[in-house]
Amino acid sequence: MKITICPSLFAAPMGYLAEELQEVEASGITSLHVDVMDGNFVPNIAFGPDQVRMLRPLSKLEFDVHMMVVNPDRYIPDYVSAGADSITVHAEACTHLHRTIQLIKSHGKKAGVALNPATPPCVLDYVYDLLDKVLIMTVNPGYGGQKTIAGMNMKIQDLQEIKRNGDYPFAIQVDGGINQNNILSVIDAGARNIVIGSAAFQRHKTKSNIQNFMTMLERVIV
Ligand code: DX5
Ligand code: ZN
Repeated sequence: MKITICPSLFAAPMGYLAEELQEVEASGITSLHVDVMDGNFVPNIAFGPDQVRMLRPLSKLEFDVHMMVVNPDRYIPDYVSAGADSITVHAEACTHLHRTIQLIKSHGKKAGVALNPATPPCVLDYVYDLLDKVLIMTVNPGYGGQKTIAGMNMKIQDLQEIKRNGDYPFAIQVDGGINQNNILSVIDAGARNIVIGSAAFQRHKTKSNIQNFMTMLERVIV
């Protein structure tokens, strides 16, 4: 059973980004979660395409771009050209979700759709077969360091059942409030790609924090 940890750049100490990216790579991780916030879909602002473009030469990590923006179609080409490897949009932000997924795929990038805590998986019933990833938000998006919302494990389980019954290839990703105390419960529910922000990044300790998570997973998962 393959579990991927995906550190969320939003939690990294901004003055030391290059150093932090090196710590992430040294830990053996292969992908980095990059949050994009527009101050409209979510009440916060983060990482424009120019910042992503500047980060690109600093790292070989796959950039997993999570777009918390209204009208993502308008910005998808910018993030592609900035160096995104996979792009996740919110179902709640897309009037024509199918078209948006096609747009991401037309650029040769992996396509994901995120669901806010109150959004049921059934909104994806007719696009599951097109997706590389479904992201279950375990917090209301917009801020790092929040507590996970109760009931989300049940939603992960429901999605895992849909994936199994339909034999869909999408990965189940979770994002928000994941730490050493609750990571095993989301994995148990069916999550396989785990975004970790504040519990991963810490100056001079990022590499060991991530490795502690990996060791924990190796010990428990067979
Ligand atoms: C929340 C973001 C997350 C956030 C995770 O809106 O999408 O990626 O950075 O950070 P933690 O793990 O601290 O909740
Ligand atoms: Zn995110």
